[in-house]
Amino acid sequence: MLREALHPPLREASFWAVQVAVVTLAGLHFYLDSAGILESTAFPTGSPVGLLLLPVLYAALRHGLAGSAATALWATLLWLPDLALPNALGHPADDLIDLAIVDGVAVFVGVHIERAMIQRRRVEAAEGERREVELRYQELFQTNFFPIVIVDAHGVITEANPAAAAAFGDRITGRTTDMALGVAHDGVGRQTEASIESVDTGDGVVGTYRMRVARVRPGGTDGGDYRQLVFQDLTEEYRERAAVRLYAARLLAAQEEERQHIAHEIHDDPLQRLIHLARRMDRLVVQGGPGPTSTALLETRFELLEIIGRLRDVARGLRPPGLDQLGLVAAVRGLLADVEDAHAVRLDFEVTGTPVRLTADVELGAFRIIQEAVSNVTRHASAHAARVGLHYDEDALRIRVADDGIGFDARPGTGAGGAQLGLVGMRERASLLGGRLVVSSTPGRGTVIEARLPASPPPMSVAG
Ligand SMILES: Nc1ncnc2c1ncn2[C@@H]1O[C@H](COP(=O)(O)OP(=O)(O)OP(=O)(O)O)[C@@H](O)[C@H]1O
Ligand SMILES: [Mg+2]
Repeated sequence: MLREALHPPLREASFWAVQVAVVTLAGLHFYLDSAGILESTAFPTGSPVGLLLLPVLYAALRHGLAGSAATALWATLLWLPDLALPNALGHPADDLIDLAIVDGVAVFVGVHIERAMIQRRRVEAAEGERREVELRYQELFQTNFFPIVIVDAHGVITEANPAAAAAFGDRITGRTTDMALGVAHDGVGRQTEASIESVDTGDGVVGTYRMRVARVRPGGTDGGDYRQLVFQDLTEEYRERAAVRLYAARLLAAQEEERQHIAHEIHDDPLQRLIHLARRMDRLVVQGGPGPTSTALLETRFELLEIIGRLRDVARGLRPPGLDQLGLVAAVRGLLADVEDAHAVRLDFEVTGTPVRLTADVELGAFRIIQEAVSNVTRHASAHAARVGLHYDEDALRIRVADDGIGFDARPGTGAGGAQLGLVGMRERASLLGGRLVVSSTPGRGTVIEARLPASPPPMSVAG
């Protein structure tokens, strides 16, 4: 405050007008006093000095401490010549006291008014800042690319920005979120973020949005509990994602069909003919009796049986044997037996819960996941043993394949490039069936593949 007092408002005309009044008062008083007129009139002693209070108080009111202090100082200086007048004419002692009172009043009133002025300036600055923030918020609100609506405690939309009006129609203000957007008030109240499948966009078109809820102006001036809903339009993204999923599902379905077709082809023609050939060789050996030709024939027949075995394996790999007729548990048991026969790895199989027949999609998907996981164990894990688990929950099938092999870095993004499709395919299958697959592995500590497939897959599945 002292700093303000040292900076009188020199640029203000009213300040100088006050100073002129002070000069006039002082000059007039000096003249009257020196001419002895005051002595002869009935003026009470000290009243001219008292008149100085008028400009001093005015300066205090107009300019605070700076104005009153400068005016009082100025008046005191101007009064000095009068005090120097011979005693007989002036009243130096009285005038001195009066001047001190004027100066005291100037400082006292000045300080109080200055304080009030500072307080008012602070309030004005805070108000200005608040207005500035509000303006900035309004600007952000109005120009925001995302649709934003403000909702009161009853779920009624009180404001909507132009993007919201464009997305949901311009008559949503004043209606409830339920009526205007199909978003239940409950959801708005409790959640902070929600993915909403269907927001009515006004003309019967339904879009997919992600909605973020934030409380604004909690307990505002009208005591209201307002919420801001920001919508992110995901309609196009969802449409594209759905198209990609449909494509992946069709691709997998086509792959399964193709495999089944090739398996049938192998089984129906080449395999049957080779079996027929082996039987004819049997007969030729019997007819020819012992001799070098029969030995050669026997050797050839042995090779032929090997080829038949290989072809059977290929056909079985292409189409899980017994899956349709006997179900998943039997098919997995058969698969694990085949793999154990062909590889030096022990495979334990455990079924928990109550095994039931699931839809063909789920059983085939589960079989393919286990088939790929077990194939990875034999090809990459260098494992001694692996455990395959099937757990039948009431509403889902859980799959677990764990090995004690070398493991690998299974963190996302660390996998090798595009050629490896096993893990990706497993994940994709699980996700197409509405489930999830997690790979946990650390180098040196084995690998665990866990999947959960809902018992009733979503409509768009592998068979779709
Ligand atoms: N059980 C496992 N133990 C150790 N490493 C594994 C295991 N499973 C997968 N891996 C590692 O992860 C990589 C990716 O596996 P993925 O099944 O995707 O591809 P792949 O088996 O190499 O080829 P594809 O399955 O397409 O024929 C493998 O190359 C291997 O390095
Ligand atoms: Mg693989």
